[in-house]
Amino acid sequence: MTRRKRYVQVGVGARSRGYTVALVKTMKSTCELVGICDTNRGRMELCNRKIVKDLKGKAVPMFLDTEFDAMIRRLKPDVVVVTSVDCFHDQYIVRAMDLGCDVVSEKPMTTDAKKCQRIVDAVNRTGRDLKVTFNCRYMPAMVQVKDLLMQGVIGKILSVDVHWILDVDHGASYFRRWHSEIGKSGGLLLHKATHHLDLANWFLSANPVEVFAMGGRRFYGAQSGMVKRYGLQGHSERCLTCRRRGKCPFFMDIRKSADLKGMYLNCEKHDGYIRDRCVFHKKINIMDTMSLVVRYDTGAFLSYSLNAFTPYEGFRYAFNGNKGRLEFEHIGAPLTSQGKVLPAKGMPGGMRIRLYPHFKLAQSIPLKKFKGSHWGGDDRLMADVFGAKSTKDPYLRAANYASGAMSILIGAAANKSMRTGQPVKIASLVKGLPPARLPKMKQW
Ligand SMILES: NC(=O)c1ccc[n+]([C@@H]2O[C@H](COP(=O)([O-])OP(=O)(O)OC[C@H]3O[C@@H](n4cnc5c(N)ncnc54)[C@H](O)[C@@H]3O)[C@@H](O)[C@H]2O)c1
Repeated sequence: MTRRKRYVQVGVGARSRGYTVALVKTMKSTCELVGICDTNRGRMELCNRKIVKDLKGKAVPMFLDTEFDAMIRRLKPDVVVVTSVDCFHDQYIVRAMDLGCDVVSEKPMTTDAKKCQRIVDAVNRTGRDLKVTFNCRYMPAMVQVKDLLMQGVIGKILSVDVHWILDVDHGASYFRRWHSEIGKSGGLLLHKATHHLDLANWFLSANPVEVFAMGGRRFYGAQSGMVKRYGLQGHSERCLTCRRRGKCPFFMDIRKSADLKGMYLNCEKHDGYIRDRCVFHKKINIMDTMSLVVRYDTGAFLSYSLNAFTPYEGFRYAFNGNKGRLEFEHIGAPLTSQGKVLPAKGMPGGMRIRLYPHFKLAQSIPLKKFKGSHWGGDDRLMADVFGAKSTKDPYLRAANYASGAMSILIGAAANKSMRTGQPVKIASLVKGLPPARLPKMKQW
C-alpha cells in the first residue's frame, strides 16, 4: 500500500471547507490533513470543531501565519494547500516550495505580475509541483463545450465573445468583503475573471499575447453617485450598525446566517475583519465595469466584459469558427440582494449550448445532467487533485503554474492597460514562463 500524502491547509475560511472535507473524509485513503494555519485563531478553532463533529476526524495542530515555517518543519507535509486571501498566495506558494513542499493553490494563483514572477522563479528554482485549482474546467457542461470545440465542430476558432454578469446578490458580495480592495484581491479582473479567462484560454487551447482594456467603478463605492440616488447619505461602515438599513436595498443581516455568524461575526475579535461592510464604503477601490480585448498566439481574438451589479447572473461564450458558430450561455433568475428569487414569467433561463454550422441546420445540444457544488465541478476537481494517480485526461484539466499565470496575466495586463491607456504584451510582464499545456484542437 502506498503511503498517504501529508497535507496542511493555509487559510481556513469559506472556500477551505471543501478541501477539508476532501482531505479528512472523501479522499482519506490517499490523503491526511496534519495541520492548519491562519491569521485568525477563531476560524482555526471552528475548522477543528467541524473536523471533529461533522467529519468524525481528529483535531489537527493550529498555527498562526507567523508560525508557517515552524509548522512545515514540525509536521513535514508533502503538500501545502493555499486557500488564504488572494494577495498572500504568492508568499505561501514560494515559501512552501523553498521548504521542499509541493503546492495546491486556489485561484487566482496570485494578484499581480511581480508576484507571478516570484512564483515562476520559485518553480524554476525548486522544481516543485504547483497545481492551480480551476474547478470550472471540471464542470460537466464546460467539458461538453471543450469536447465539441476539440472535435472541430466549428473548425478553427477565429474569435470569441465572452460576457459575464454578476448579480446584485453574488456580485454585490465582492464589494462587502476583502475582495473590494485591490491590494487584497487584485480587483475582479484577477480575482473573478481568472475563472472566465482560464476557461477562454482552455476552450481555445491558446496562450494570450496582448491585452487592451477599459473599466471603471460605476455602481458600488462612495463616488458612484448611488448613495444619493438611493437616499442613503449618513450610512454606516457596515450593515449591522447602519441607520439606513430600512431604506437600503443592499442591507444584509449577518446574524441571520449561522454560517456567516460563526465564521466571521464571532471571529471578528481576533482580526477585526468585517464581512458585512457597506457596498458603498469609501475603502472600495476595485472596478465593477470592465471590458477588454485579447490577441492569442493562435491568431484568435477575445472580447470580454464583466459587470458586477446586474439584476440576474449569467454568462455567454460565443465562438466564431471558419466552419460555424457555437454559443454557450447561462441565464440565472433575477434576485434581490438578499438572494430572494424574483418572479420572471416568460423570460429565458437556464443553460444552453447551440451549434450553428455554416450552410447546415442549426442544433441545440442537450446538456449532460450534473449535480454538486459549482455545477458539479468541485467533487471532480477534488478527486483529480487528491485522488490516486489519475488516468490520462484528454482535456488536460489539471492546471499547473503556467495555466495559473496565463489567466491572471490577462487581468494584470488589463489593469496596466487601464492605467496607461496602452495595449500590454503578456511577455513584457513575466520572464521564464513556458506556454500552458493545452489539448490539441482538430482543425479544418
Ligand atoms: N474556486 C472557487 O470557486 C473559489 C470560491 C471561493 C473562493 N475561492 C478562493 O479561495 C480563497 C479563499 O477565499 P474565501 O472565500 O474562503 O475567503 P475567506 O475570507 O472566507 O477566507 C480567507 C481565510 O484566509 C485567512 N487569511 C487572511 N490573511 C491570511 C494570511 N496572511 N495568512 C493565512 N491566512 C490568512 C482568513 O483569516 C480567512 O480564514 C481565495 O483565494 C479565493 O479566491 C475560490
